[in-house]
Amino acid sequence: MKFGVFQTHGSSWTSFIFSSLMLCMWTSVECWSYYYSDKKMVWDEARDWCRENYTDMVAIQNKGEIRHLIKWLPKKDTYYWIGIRKINDTWTWVGTNKALTVEATNWARGEPNNQNKHLKGGAGEDCVEMYIQNRYAGRWNDERCTKLKYALCYTAACKNDSCHHGECVETINSHKCDCFTGFYGEKCEQVVKCNKEEVTTPDKGSVNCTHKYGDFSYDSSCQYSCEEGYQLNMSRPLTCTGTAKWSEQPPTCEPVQCQELSRPERGSIKCSDPLGLSSYQSTCEFTCNEGYVLSGSPSNTLRCEASGNWNSSKPFCEVVQCPALQELENGVASCGDDADMRFSYGNTCSFSCAPGYQLVGPSRVTCTSAAEWSEKMPRCEAITCKVPEGDAPLITQCSQPLTELRPDSNCSFSCEEGFELQGAKIIQCSEDGQWSEAIPTCNVLGCPAPEIPTSAKINCRPSPSSPASTVTPHPLGMVCSFTCDEGHELQGALSMECVNPGQWSSVPPTCTALRCPLQKAPENGQINCSNSEPVYNSQCYFTCNQGYSLDGHELLTCDTYGNWTGKNPTCQAPAPVTAIASAVTAGGALSLSGVPLAIWLLKRMKQKANKFELSSNSDITAPQEFFKNSVDSLI
Ligand SMILES: *[C@@H]1O[C@H](CO)[C@@H](O)[C@H](O)[C@H]1NC(C)=O
Ligand SMILES: *[C@@H]1O[C@H](CO)[C@@H](O)[C@H](O)[C@H]1NC(C)=O
Ligand SMILES: *[C@@H]1O[C@H](CO)[C@@H](O)[C@H](O)[C@H]1NC(C)=O
Ligand SMILES: *[C@@H]1O[C@H](CO)[C@@H](O)[C@H](O)[C@H]1NC(C)=O
Ligand SMILES: *[C@@H]1O[C@H](CO)[C@@H](O)[C@H](O)[C@H]1NC(C)=O
Ligand SMILES: *[C@@H]1O[C@H](CO)[C@@H](O)[C@H](O)[C@H]1NC(C)=O
Ligand SMILES: *[C@@H]1O[C@H](CO)[C@@H](O)[C@H](O)[C@H]1NC(C)=O
Ligand SMILES: *[C@@H]1O[C@H](CO)[C@@H](O)[C@H](O)[C@H]1NC(C)=O
Ligand SMILES: *[C@@H]1O[C@H](CO)[C@@H](O)[C@H](O)[C@H]1NC(C)=O
Repeated sequence: MKFGVFQTHGSSWTSFIFSSLMLCMWTSVECWSYYYSDKKMVWDEARDWCRENYTDMVAIQNKGEIRHLIKWLPKKDTYYWIGIRKINDTWTWVGTNKALTVEATNWARGEPNNQNKHLKGGAGEDCVEMYIQNRYAGRWNDERCTKLKYALCYTAACKNDSCHHGECVETINSHKCDCFTGFYGEKCEQVVKCNKEEVTTPDKGSVNCTHKYGDFSYDSSCQYSCEEGYQLNMSRPLTCTGTAKWSEQPPTCEPVQCQELSRPERGSIKCSDPLGLSSYQSTCEFTCNEGYVLSGSPSNTLRCEASGNWNSSKPFCEVVQCPALQELENGVASCGDDADMRFSYGNTCSFSCAPGYQLVGPSRVTCTSAAEWSEKMPRCEAITCKVPEGDAPLITQCSQPLTELRPDSNCSFSCEEGFELQGAKIIQCSEDGQWSEAIPTCNVLGCPAPEIPTSAKINCRPSPSSPASTVTPHPLGMVCSFTCDEGHELQGALSMECVNPGQWSSVPPTCTALRCPLQKAPENGQINCSNSEPVYNSQCYFTCNQGYSLDGHELLTCDTYGNWTGKNPTCQAPAPVTAIASAVTAGGALSLSGVPLAIWLLKRMKQKANKFELSSNSDITAPQEFFKNSVDSLI
């Protein structure tokens, strides 16, 4: 039941509106138009009727709107409910729930009075009516809401789909679209587009664009991503803005960076950076100086991973540790003051032993880089003196068992009978494991070895029947006899006996060489002797002057008895030839006489029988041999 449809404007009212009024067609939509009911109803019914059939009850907001309604509504003396009500004692525009401004009100004089002159008390006039007539056009009166009046409604020109991407704004006889950012066109149906070409794909990366309103259009978003190990230098997506520009420059993909590694203390680092310093795929190898080992990481090489982390924690160089030294029994190992470094590479431990003990092994050891000590551990051995072992007749008695001859131990010595101790009677083991004195010896109680006379032989026997003895010194009872060499004469005692310690029965004899009488050259002849002195075995050769003949032996030898062998020669004046011949036939040896000569002849004949040819020299020396043998066999 619409009585009429009039266009009006939307939000702000000006006098200009009225000069340009236009009629909206019934079929036309999107005009802000007024309507009134042909039936009276209470205020609440009027509001419902307006809201169901139109947009809402007219909410007078200014005087301009009132003037328009006065002009448009039929000039009959009628009251219309309008959209103003008292809520919580405040006059309120029901469509907006806003308090009425004083400026917008158009109360009739004396209104609102909240009184009804027909009712006692006059309270409860909470709704507003507008009176339309010539005299009081558009004036307001507060009235009880249960009164029956005509409803005054309006319809808005804007529908919820009037503008696609914008806000619908009521205009005088129409509406317009205020487009949201990124949209344009009459109904804001056009979307702004950004340049697709600007969305470039970076090296090692890719881009994924999502489009809300159309390809590469307003609010399209292009999210970049990189291959493993690379990262964007800007993580925000490219967004197409309302100004048809992308929000950002396309990013690039850079290798992921790991924290830069530093050189470890007491070590070194060697890195390989195929993609950049400390970047994805970089590897760093750690090494330690001598005496240090890597620790804190399962391997010596670290790799920068795609996550930006090294594949294991950074290693450090730890000093090499040698095995802890055992306590030194009966001694002290001293390894320095730094407790942490005691058994570390390069440290030296020195050793010392308690008093009475001596170090066997090195006095110091050093921890090497191979985690081993430079030498085997020493030990402290109890200092003992060597067992004082003497020869058989020495009797040793020690204060301690022989295996425990520690310093301060004493050993005393004595000798078996017939011997005497030479050296210390008691020796003491000193702190350094040495005996205070040399181990003594036992000397035989007897006589000193007798001096052997020149050219003599000695023969000592403990008793006349026992074999010769070499024992020195000579024990008591020892008898020593002397013999002189050939050609020598013994003077003194033949033998002597050790009668008391150090005392022989006599002094040793002497052997003096035998001398033959001095030979002279014969008259009319010469002599030639082997020795200047006529001692045993000297020989003298005789020759006669020319014309003289030798009588006797031409060679004489000094024998063991001090006699010259043979007859002293003489040189004879020339004689008749026959006499000489017979003498030669008998042989020179005929001049010899006595038993030795006979034996010598026999011997010579025997040798001749054996076809043994003797020289003239052998002829002469042979008797000597014989004599010597004869003398030996005679003794
Ligand atoms: C809306 O208008 C129709 C037709 O005039 C009427 O039948 C209906 O009752 C109205 N609605 C309300 C709530 O009054
Ligand atoms: C009116 O006042 C009451 C109590 O003070 C409150 O609960 C209610 O919300 C108010 N109503 C409006 C429309 O302001
Ligand atoms: C417009 O509003 C009506 C009623 O409120 C609703 O049914 C309809 O779906 C809306 N249309 C749009 C395009 O929002
Ligand atoms: C692009 O991004 C969307 C939304 O995040 C996702 O569903 C889609 O799978 C992505 N496409 C590619 C090719 O990554
Ligand atoms: C990313 O790197 C490129 C190339 O170096 C440069 O042009 C751009 O400005 C960088 N972007 C940012 C956000 O730093
Ligand atoms: C880390 O990477 C290096 C180089 O590839 C490798 O040798 C090492 O074993 C890795 N470390 C670990 C803990 O995986
Ligand atoms: C060894 O002799 C010395 C000196 O007589 C003495 O002081 C010491 O106690 C002796 N040692 C032993 C173990 O008897
Ligand atoms: C003495 O005899 C030796 C040996 O036959 C001979 O060498 C030497 O010349 C002789 N001397 C004289 C003075 O005849
Ligand atoms: C040596 O000569 C002396 C004196 O002529 C004589 O008495 C003695 O018997 C001789 N000795 C020998 C062994 O012929």
